[in-house]
Amino acid sequence: MTTTAEATTAAPIELWLELEAADPFAVFDAMRAAGVSDVRRVGVLCPTAAHVHAARASGAGAVVGVGDAHELAASAPDVVVARDELEEVLAGRWGPEGTQRRLVLLNPGPALTSDAVKRAASGADICHREPEYVELDRRIRSKLRRLAGIDEHWRVALLSGSGTAANEAALRAAVRPGRVLVVVVNGIYGERLRESARRAGIETIAVDGPWTEPIDAERVAQVVASEPRADALALVQHETTVGLLNPLAELSQLAAALDVRTVVDSISAFGVEVTPLDGIDFLTCTSNKCLHGLPGAAFVLVSPAGSRRVLDVDPTSVALDLRTYLEADTTAVPPFTPAIPALASLDVALDRVLAEGIDGRRERYAARCALLDATLERLGLEQLVAPGARSHSIRSVRLPEGVSFAALHDRLRTRGFVVYAGQGALAREIFRIACMGELELADLDRFARALEHVLGELRV
Ligand SMILES: Cc1ncc(COP(=O)(O)O)c(C=O)c1O
Repeated sequence: MTTTAEATTAAPIELWLELEAADPFAVFDAMRAAGVSDVRRVGVLCPTAAHVHAARASGAGAVVGVGDAHELAASAPDVVVARDELEEVLAGRWGPEGTQRRLVLLNPGPALTSDAVKRAASGADICHREPEYVELDRRIRSKLRRLAGIDEHWRVALLSGSGTAANEAALRAAVRPGRVLVVVVNGIYGERLRESARRAGIETIAVDGPWTEPIDAERVAQVVASEPRADALALVQHETTVGLLNPLAELSQLAAALDVRTVVDSISAFGVEVTPLDGIDFLTCTSNKCLHGLPGAAFVLVSPAGSRRVLDVDPTSVALDLRTYLEADTTAVPPFTPAIPALASLDVALDRVLAEGIDGRRERYAARCALLDATLERLGLEQLVAPGARSHSIRSVRLPEGVSFAALHDRLRTRGFVVYAGQGALAREIFRIACMGELELADLDRFARALEHVLGELRV
């Protein structure tokens, strides 16, 4: 066994193995020797089909056939390269033109995914009217129920599209004609919920609040209680605008007590933040943030009371008719052509979050945030959100005097890191660092050094 290649500025800790024995245990032995614990960070160079099978069985993140393409292709490695091309491929994998993980994405989704998740998206072609799709569809619904801790009385709508589509489908189904939607607006995504409802012809009452503070639940209760036509309350659990958590449990409980249905945008929260489903009727999320899947799949979890409400509202859209998506929960026959590659990758991504549990994933994210917080403090950078209201996946940081987001972004990018701009009125004032996805603490360590270096250059 020989090991080659390892970290460059943009690369994670990695280990490339050239296997001598066609045996998955050879991979584990080599990992142990090299002190690498995550088999998904390992690439295996395979001279024969037997080696390819062994590498696959180990769960290695990349399986590369080295040698004759005709001989190796049938064993389905990720790629086949001629031996003399190998150096070039290894360099290219992490270089600026590399196709795998060429940048460490610190934007709030789409988040970094594992190679296993990416590989799932390029699996066999599947027809959505055939048994393979039915199995995939049912597996995903069952995994989502397990993850959310809900039973068969809850329905699952699987949509193909982005999170905004899931939000719009839920909003259109939650408010009866002539009734009113109360919307919490303390960030861009609350504003978008209000706008989506308005364009669907739903009357809204907004409860506005500062973008850097959790909404005052008492105020929301007063507004809902004083409006007899209030039919639903919509809110964003985690305002991605600044990385702010709203008081989800309080808000959903108060809505339930007033017999008002609750629509919760949990798009950047579910999978990591504490999300008690009790009192929620429509919870929306996507595959590509804290669940570490690819973009393209979204879902709505619907309570029994939510399902009854859906039947009371005439659909106002064909593509976003939640009723038809909920019928598919029983039939596993989707109303429209689904984004099968995104769903196939979500299926694999869900295994990982189920294995570690939402609490386990939150702990992992908390360690990332602790590292980020310590870095920001050491560099004298001010955060926008007070510690108690911060999420486990985003930090909003004031741009230092004289430093533009564009300059900061571009210099960090050349070092392999993508940070995110502020939105709306905050666009010129802040930048955001998200720590979602398949990151390692070592990535954030390297980011901390890059940030220090780049700020040193820009501040002079
Ligand atoms: C809280 C929240 N809601 C809604 C959206 C919109 O999701 P999408 O861009 O997938 O439509 C986002 C995207 O970042 C978000 O963070």
